[in-house]
Amino acid sequence: MQLLDGKYVSEKLKGEIAEQAAAYLEKSGRKPHLVAVLVGHDGGSETYVASKMKNCEKVGFKSTLVRYESDVTQEELLAKVAELNADEDIDGIIVQLPLPKHIDPEKVTERIDYKKDVDGFHPINLGRMQRNLPSFIPATPFGITLMLKEYGIETAGKHCVVVGRSNIVGSPMSILMARNTQPGNCTVTICHSRTPDIKKFTLDADILIVAIGKKNFITADMVKEGAVIVDVGMNRETSTTTKSGYKLYGDVDFENVAPKASWITPVPGGVGLMTIIGLLRNTLASANGEVY
Ligand code: GUN
Repeated sequence: MQLLDGKYVSEKLKGEIAEQAAAYLEKSGRKPHLVAVLVGHDGGSETYVASKMKNCEKVGFKSTLVRYESDVTQEELLAKVAELNADEDIDGIIVQLPLPKHIDPEKVTERIDYKKDVDGFHPINLGRMQRNLPSFIPATPFGITLMLKEYGIETAGKHCVVVGRSNIVGSPMSILMARNTQPGNCTVTICHSRTPDIKKFTLDADILIVAIGKKNFITADMVKEGAVIVDVGMNRETSTTTKSGYKLYGDVDFENVAPKASWITPVPGGVGLMTIIGLLRNTLASANGEVY
């Protein structure tokens, strides 16, 4: 078993992004600028957004955090998005999900200018991605493809099973792995909460990508010998033994699955760190006008 080491790959790629950001500053006199909008105080969202902002500063981007309390109205939020769209000093806009129940995430996603949609959630970016046209690719699936590429994992002709069909991970991931690209060219199966006997499919996976949000969902008896395992799980449990007060668990029973795998991502230290890289790459590409 070999580790797909998110810490190693993300640090390496961050170095490259920092160099490109410096070249961009030299050329244009400004830094790539990412704005994150955070509504409320969800523990996970607070952590993720803080990490996004910190990493922007690390690579020489400008970052701005716009905060609202959870009683902000949808109209107020949409008006802010329109204002950010019109601001020429902004290259990328993300609105952290989930949003409070009274706000429709689809409305917000569609209101973000697709040319600044560095999350790649806008239907225009999703459609362009599916057609293999230049687009912003959702950060987590993008980060996973960068990791597979870095380790030279061969994917063409393989059976890739994606567990989970979310807009953020499972659905775009399945599109990327089926596309005529490297990584890609897989035969893809998507399993989800309504799939009976998921094990029947996971046992046949050469590449298993799990984003279902359930601790230890994938056990050793569900995995083929020699499979590549990508664990997107970010299951937070409170803990008295860690400084942060919580502990992170993946969707895969790492201890028992790892001995069967050819390659596997740890949690933490795997996909989570690569998500940031996807976002930084999209923001830099937006500043450089490489997508639109
Ligand atoms: N919530 C969980 N993942 C993400 C992400 O990649 N982007 C945004 N905006 N919200 C998220």
